[in-house]
Amino acid sequence: MKTVMITGAAGLVGGALRKHLGAHYRLVLLDRVAIAPLAEGETAVQCDIRDGAALLAAMQGVDAVVHLAGEPTEAAWDAIREANIEGCYQTVEAARLAGVRRFVFASSNHAIGYHLRTETLDPDCTTRPDTRYGLSKVFGEALLSLYADKFGLTSVSLRIGTVLNPDAPRELRHLSTWLSHRDLAQLVRCSIEADIHYEIAWGVSANTRKWWRDRSAERLGYRPQDNAEAFAAQFGEIDAAAGNPVALAHQGGVFCSWERGR
Ligand SMILES: NC(=O)c1ccc[n+]([C@@H]2O[C@H](COP(=O)([O-])OP(=O)(O)OC[C@H]3O[C@@H](n4cnc5c(N)ncnc54)[C@H](O)[C@@H]3O)[C@@H](O)[C@H]2O)c1
Repeated sequence: MKTVMITGAAGLVGGALRKHLGAHYRLVLLDRVAIAPLAEGETAVQCDIRDGAALLAAMQGVDAVVHLAGEPTEAAWDAIREANIEGCYQTVEAARLAGVRRFVFASSNHAIGYHLRTETLDPDCTTRPDTRYGLSKVFGEALLSLYADKFGLTSVSLRIGTVLNPDAPRELRHLSTWLSHRDLAQLVRCSIEADIHYEIAWGVSANTRKWWRDRSAERLGYRPQDNAEAFAAQFGEIDAAAGNPVALAHQGGVFCSWERGR
């Protein structure tokens, strides 16, 4: 059985993954906050991802790292720089030094948020970050490209759409971006197991209205089971971008209009 480290394991995505991955892997749960109680097969490490030495010690014997820790939305530059640039760098570098074989990175659709909603994108599209947060995800993807080519640390960067708790879409944009917990878990398992060098894949369910083509995910063997459309009647016309032309035009939604007005 492989040992898989999840950074940011105390968070929303980490919690969803723990439920599904625990049956397949020994899990090392790393976060800056304490995690308890632990299930069988889980161990916890409390550390900050800016602490390279602590990361290296915790990664001994780890086969794959699923890197979730960091600022999960737009924030001031200092916070983004510390967690998503410095913290991401330290985590990837520790993985290299520890001999980890596979790195799975929680990137985001906000790396491409200024693409129009009328476009259908492939994973190799131009990046168009919509925030400092999205920019930090472009950094992480590029860092992993470098580490795959230079050092052989194979990786998948997952441009996740929207993962929610409770596990259901709640507004119109989610009909395009939603990723269910079970599809997320399947995609992460595929990302750990597939015979690849470096991939970028969309983290999205089989949504009728999705804006992204899944060629890369197909190469990983990912076959999503869920479709946000099944929930469409439950929230009617609720739209966080309503009355906001910039948000309505772009895939990143309100992330595109923050700080610039409309
Ligand atoms: N939830 C989504 O819809 C979504 C969409 C796209 C991408 N993502 C990405 O997935 C990842 C997880 O998102 P989430 O929604 O679970 O966020 P979250 O805030 O619930 O979880 C993030 C976790 O990271 C930990 N953390 C933050 N800074 C840390 C540090 N310096 N050292 C150690 N731990 C630290 C936090 O304690 C927290 O438990 C993030 O990288 C986010 O950008 C999430």
